[in-house]
Amino acid sequence: MTATRREFLRATGAAVGCAMLPRAVAANETPLRAGIHRVQLAPAGYPTTEVWAYDGLIPGPEIRLPQGSRVRRDFVNDLPQATTIHWHGIRIENAMDGVPGMTQAAVPPGGRFLYDFSTPDAGTYWYHTHNRTVEQMARGLAGPLIVTEAEPPEVDAEHVVFLSDWRMTDPADLTDDFANFHDLSHAGRIGNHVTANGLPELTLPVARGDRLRLRLVNAAPSRVFELALQGLDGWIVALDGMPLAQPRPAADLVMAPAQRVDLIVDVVADQGEDAFLLEVFRGQGYALATFPVARTGGQARRGTPPAALPPNPGQKTMRTPDRPPVDLVMDGGAMRGLRSAVWQGRQTDGRSLAQEGQFWALNGIVGLPDDPLLVAERGETLRVPLINRTAFPHGMHLHGHHFREVLADGTHGDWRDTILVAPGETTTIDFLADNPGDWLVHCHMLSHHAAGMGTWIRVLA
Ligand code: C2O
Ligand code: CU
Repeated sequence: MTATRREFLRATGAAVGCAMLPRAVAANETPLRAGIHRVQLAPAGYPTTEVWAYDGLIPGPEIRLPQGSRVRRDFVNDLPQATTIHWHGIRIENAMDGVPGMTQAAVPPGGRFLYDFSTPDAGTYWYHTHNRTVEQMARGLAGPLIVTEAEPPEVDAEHVVFLSDWRMTDPADLTDDFANFHDLSHAGRIGNHVTANGLPELTLPVARGDRLRLRLVNAAPSRVFELALQGLDGWIVALDGMPLAQPRPAADLVMAPAQRVDLIVDVVADQGEDAFLLEVFRGQGYALATFPVARTGGQARRGTPPAALPPNPGQKTMRTPDRPPVDLVMDGGAMRGLRSAVWQGRQTDGRSLAQEGQFWALNGIVGLPDDPLLVAERGETLRVPLINRTAFPHGMHLHGHHFREVLADGTHGDWRDTILVAPGETTTIDFLADNPGDWLVHCHMLSHHAAGMGTWIRVLA
């Protein structure tokens, strides 16, 4: 990577102005507007791209506030379609969860909706559209939501790295085949252009020995990111917003859509070199973020693992489940096509389903069922084996709660709100159903959700 290239990119950054850079929202109560805008998504020299964006920004404006405060934003819809906002990973009041037809009516074009909720847990979260997401998120409607600890860890700098991918034509228009049957039935809409913070190349100057906190968000519609570090040594300190009891070395970094990873890394590359956050894609490394070691004067590398972040109140002690497991069986998709499944209340053969663009079933039902997967008493602990009988991985997300994987030895793994279930595997989760309301459970590969992979649970008040 040459200095010329870097200077060139920096000049581009100046030319498009702060519109391209995520920035903190000054006033908590200013409206948040979804609208159509043009931004420079493709590398310099290419035209701008029409996107759907919050406040004209890709990603949407960073909303950052302290743990235990409130987000209060009047949302204004300037789009030609109805939409909502979902606050992914927040233990939220059900009415603020942003699921159209379940927790609120979709906000029509020209309409508004006041989102008002508290932020009980610190961590890296994000917000995104929850209506026609397979199209609306692929057009750009997503942004970071950062809830800060009262006493954040000591670092030299902190960066949100908001990852996304885009499927573009040459020169730079988003393709509008959001629900083409191949994507729906295979791995989903995978982009041919990857951005970090909306930029083709994110450059973050550092000094050797700096300790950085990186808040990674996978906001891609369907892409699983496999990541690697170069010139950076580090630890995972939190997953999906929830601190690890013990930080662990940052290896095997795989992020399903919607997952977050908080890293604390030390810059070990020498001055004059670059450190990188890389995507490993088909055996090749691609820079998602480049850290030119431009300055001297960084503190000596600390080298020692960081202290654990303070646990969140949401990480409550979990009992053993109160009743037998409730299976969630995933079927369908290419190579394991559905023979038949219930769709819109009727047993329907696979061929007819395919003609309707429906390819996946949960417990034999395609699309949102009338009845919930389970009804829980408030305070019950539930066990749900996620049984993947398909040929594809699925990033399964439960709204309103975090859960823990049940490990082979019967103990609990990390706290998560989204978990990747490998093809042919079963991943069992336990969760404490303590947030009353109706909550979606769905695959966060948005093409799969659109093609059938969604159900819901009810937690009684
Ligand atoms: Cu990220 Cu149903 O949501
Ligand atoms: Cu899926």
